[in-house]
Amino acid sequence: MGKNSRDQRASVGVFDSGVGGLTVAREIMRNLPNEHIVYFGDTARVPYGSKSKDTIVRYSRQIIHFLRTQDVKAIVIACNTASALALDEVERELDIPILGVIKPGARVAVEATRNHKIGVIGTESTINSHMYKRLICEADPSITVYEKACPLLCPLVEEGWLKDPVTEEVAKRYLDGLLGKGIDSLILGCTHYPLLRSLIREIAGDQITLVNPAYETAKELGELLEREQLGNPDAPDEPRTAEPYRFFVSDMADKFGSFANSILPYDIETIQKINIEDY
Ligand code: DGL
Repeated sequence: MGKNSRDQRASVGVFDSGVGGLTVAREIMRNLPNEHIVYFGDTARVPYGSKSKDTIVRYSRQIIHFLRTQDVKAIVIACNTASALALDEVERELDIPILGVIKPGARVAVEATRNHKIGVIGTESTINSHMYKRLICEADPSITVYEKACPLLCPLVEEGWLKDPVTEEVAKRYLDGLLGKGIDSLILGCTHYPLLRSLIREIAGDQITLVNPAYETAKELGELLEREQLGNPDAPDEPRTAEPYRFFVSDMADKFGSFANSILPYDIETIQKINIEDY
């Protein structure tokens, strides 16, 4: 087997601060069923959304170091906060392709808007980085971007309160100001928010396009792997020598497992806990 075919069969490394990136992994599983995934959730150090750039860059470097030990062929930063704060830094240091969720999300929002008013919701650090705004305005300076940090939504999602009146009230308060600006597109700029899609749809109404960066990232990953001739040629139902999806966390493996099993299309059997500070 030549080097290239070995690389094609290697896994894609996917990482996040915890469970949120599973919404991205889920889209990769659905849209690129040939691809194997090594997922790392930094459950010992979550949340990232309230931390500084220096810290997020350090964490991301450690995780990438760990993922490289698993022989991955490409990496997806399945976290808006880490994509906003660390992607530019770590990309320079890598010799394999790396993709974040922000560029794909921003690109699709630019394509989707008709009235040139886009809303973005995310963690405090993502919103304070103004990364979505910057990329959108670089692509089309006539677009106005309205941003809103929604820090209470992540814990509500992790509590499983996806259709709860409390979550609805909190989401309404956050979204009211943005909706009042007349936006026609809204970027769900945090990995947890696609799980609130139907609730946000009810609040925002049918006229607003909800942009899910998780889905756009999976699509862009497929294009990238094809361009680099790195796509796995094996059909998903071919006999496999290794588990197609492997999961690692830095803490609380059981809690991670219950959440993962509630949102992934299959049940995870094993989750390995590692000490990320060793990397
Ligand atoms: N995964 C993070 C993001 O998309 C949200 C959770 C956190 O704050 O760590 O920004």
